[in-house]
This record gives sequence, structure tokens and C-alpha cells, in this order.
Amino acid sequence: MKKIRLGVNIDHVATVRNARGENYPSPLRASLLAEKCGADSVTIHLREDRRHINELDLKKIIKKLKIPLNLEIAATEEMLKIASKSKPPFICIVPEKRKEITTEGGLNLNHNKTFLKKLINKLRNKNIRVSLFIEPSIKDINEAKSLKADCVEIHTGKLCNLINKNKDYKNEINKIKKAVRKGNKLGLEVHAGHGLTFNSAKILSKIDGIIEFNIGHFLIGESIFVGLPKTIRLFKKILKR
Ligand code: PXP
Repeated sequence: MKKIRLGVNIDHVATVRNARGENYPSPLRASLLAEKCGADSVTIHLREDRRHINELDLKKIIKKLKIPLNLEIAATEEMLKIASKSKPPFICIVPEKRKEITTEGGLNLNHNKTFLKKLINKLRNKNIRVSLFIEPSIKDINEAKSLKADCVEIHTGKLCNLINKNKDYKNEINKIKKAVRKGNKLGLEVHAGHGLTFNSAKILSKIDGIIEFNIGHFLIGESIFVGLPKTIRLFKKILKR
């Protein structure tokens, strides 16, 4: 039986904390509980505006967590400095717009390519595995390979949206399948994430070649009702094909 890794994104624990300016609920506590309940990694996104996770969270989590930490960052000098100092095992480079509610799409790999190349190179030289968050497009997969990324994470937001609204998702899932195939062929590790629920994770888990799912918003929301341990266990069950 093949097992897909589950990366638990705990950003929204920090969102709830920050809504009241208190020091609870604790993202560190959530990370350690996720680890205890079988998460394969923990993901945090240190945004430029620090709307959820902050540097102190990053410091505390990286110190205590035994499973890999996947740090999502935008391609900026500030984030390069922070990443070089904290040296998480995984970095996922994501696009960032100040006014967006969430990461709305994949990276534009042709924008600021020189810096992107430098960023990937510097991180890889520090033994950090680098992933690029991209749209399910063959062009972007080729581009990611030429930029020497280790992994790509395919943005599943559009697909999940269609599934949630009971709309036809055949075209979108075919795009994802093709991108996964191409990524595997080029030797890239292929991950997927954004907007995943129990239902969409189940559908996507049928695609061969995706080895990691990163899930946050739905997972944290569901935990309000049934708890983080049970929600993680349910996702792990779905990802065991
Ligand atoms: N993967 C990446 C690269 C992301 O930026 C996000 C959102 O922060 C996720 C996965 C998780 O998405 P969601 O919170 O919708 O599950």
C-alpha cells in the first residue's frame, strides 16, 4: 500500500491567536500535537505582513519539532535572510500579494527569475530542499526543473473549488495528472496543496506520483468540531491508498 505524506499547515492556529492579540492558542502546541498524531511534516507560512505566523513561532517550532518543518516564504531578500538563519529542512517558495486572503495561484516563474535562481541556489547550498508552488502546467514544471528546484507543489485551489461546488472538474484534474506525470519524469518530487478537504484529498490521492499533500484551512476548521488528532487520523486514512 502506498502512503502519501501529510503536511499539516498550522497557520490558522496563529490566525485565531492573533485575532485577539493573545498568546493562545499556541502554534507550537499545535505543531507538537500534529507530530504526535502522525503528521509527516508541519508547514508554516511566514508572510511579509506576519498576519499569522511570526518569527518567534518559527524559532520555537524549529527548536522543538522532530518531524520536518516546511517553511513557506515569498521570494524576497528578507525571507532569504530568515531562511538562511533558521535553516528548516524544507522551504516552499510561494507568491505573495499583500491584499490576498490566501495564496491565490502558483508562482510566476518568469518574474524576477534572476533572484529566484539565486534564492534556490543559496537555499540548496545550505542543504535545504526547495519546492516551488506552481500551477498545474507543463511549462511551469519544465521551468521549475531548469531552476533546479528539488520539488514542486501543485496548486490545487481551482480543482478543490470545482469539487466543492459540485462542478465538472475533469479538465482541471487532467491538467494536474499531466503535470504530475511530467514532474515525475523530470525527477521532481511532486506535492499538492491548497483548498483540500476530505473529499478533494480522496479524489486527488488516486493520482499516482503525488507524494505529499499540504493541508491547512479545512483541517484546522474541522479540528474545531472533532479535534486535531481525529482530523489528522482521518486524513492519514484517506492518504493511505
Ligand atoms: N500549500 C501552500 C504552498 C500554501 O500556500 C497553502 C496555503 O497557505 C497550503 C498548501 C494550504 O492550503 P489550505 O490552507 O487551503 O489547506
